[in-house]
Amino acid sequence: MRDELKQNDALTKIAPALLAWYDVHARELPWRVSPSDRSAGIAPDPYRVWLSEIMLQQTTVAAVKSYFERFTQLWPTVSDLASAEDEVVLGEWAGLGYYARARNLLKCARAVQRQYGGEFPNTRAELLSLPGIGPYTSAAISSIAYDLPETVVDGNVERVVSRLFRVETPLPAAKPELTSLAETLTPEKRPGDYAQAMMDLGATICAPRNPACSLCPLNASCAAFEAGDASRFPLKMPKKAKPTRYGHAFIGRTTAGEWILETRPEKGLLGGMLGWPGTEWQEEHEVVAPYDANWQALGEVKHTFTHFHLILTVHMAEGVTVRKEDFTLRGANSFRASDLPTVMRKAFDLVDKSSDK
Ligand code: ADE
Repeated sequence: MRDELKQNDALTKIAPALLAWYDVHARELPWRVSPSDRSAGIAPDPYRVWLSEIMLQQTTVAAVKSYFERFTQLWPTVSDLASAEDEVVLGEWAGLGYYARARNLLKCARAVQRQYGGEFPNTRAELLSLPGIGPYTSAAISSIAYDLPETVVDGNVERVVSRLFRVETPLPAAKPELTSLAETLTPEKRPGDYAQAMMDLGATICAPRNPACSLCPLNASCAAFEAGDASRFPLKMPKKAKPTRYGHAFIGRTTAGEWILETRPEKGLLGGMLGWPGTEWQEEHEVVAPYDANWQALGEVKHTFTHFHLILTVHMAEGVTVRKEDFTLRGANSFRASDLPTVMRKAFDLVDKSSDK
């Protein structure tokens, strides 16, 4: 009975309290239309909403801001992005991680251009049919860009809802339950601002550790606040430990001073990106250099991917001769370390360090 009362209370009070808080505390973000501009009739650009949401998957707001500014300067509309060269877009994406997302970004831009004449559709079903757009992003675009009452559920929203209702089921099993609870809270009025307010609340007040419950606009409706144990939620199943894999990367320079790179296969980790040729990344392996040279070991770099830690031993050689057609050669003018994915850039940083000495 008590729980039911709590839920009714939540249903009627939560959205208005959250929206009133958002009107004062909304974060200013480069892709966001402020609540006051929005109430003055300024609608967000669906292209900017989509681009920011794809960039923000698995990456922090702080890291995304400069990438977002650069992308929207280079490609102000989805049509501009659709006609960009793959390699230029992948190069600009380098450092954001998860390169499959960058490739899907281009596929999606081209599909929007081809199928919808450069205008993003507004229904979830149509959005879901586009490359790289899943349940989260389709809900985010329909609600934030088109102000439709769809429920956006990301990690922030899961945390807020798990605390409001003290959901004892651990993640990831709790996902469907948290989604239905979140749906009961989504208002018909201002659903776009509401979705962004939930994210802001999760990012600032309802933080994973040490939530600032005394400042929270929802504390009067929050079961975990009442019980004094907000930090205990959401419950999580223990994670499997990540294995460590080992590999070797070989940084070579031709007699003409070109860097000897490879374009990685489209499928698989860092697909389609530039990298240093090397061994497979495995738990155990044999070391075989991709071509003959007078190799010198530069040291090791560590990098963590979603499913494993990598320790990469880096080797360097100069004055090398290779067959042009076997590699991607880049002269000083066309080589930018910033075009490399992070792990390959970390390897290159060892070259800089060794030449500083
Ligand atoms: N994180 C992901 N999407 C966001 C958004 N639209 N606003 C704030 N934080 C976010």
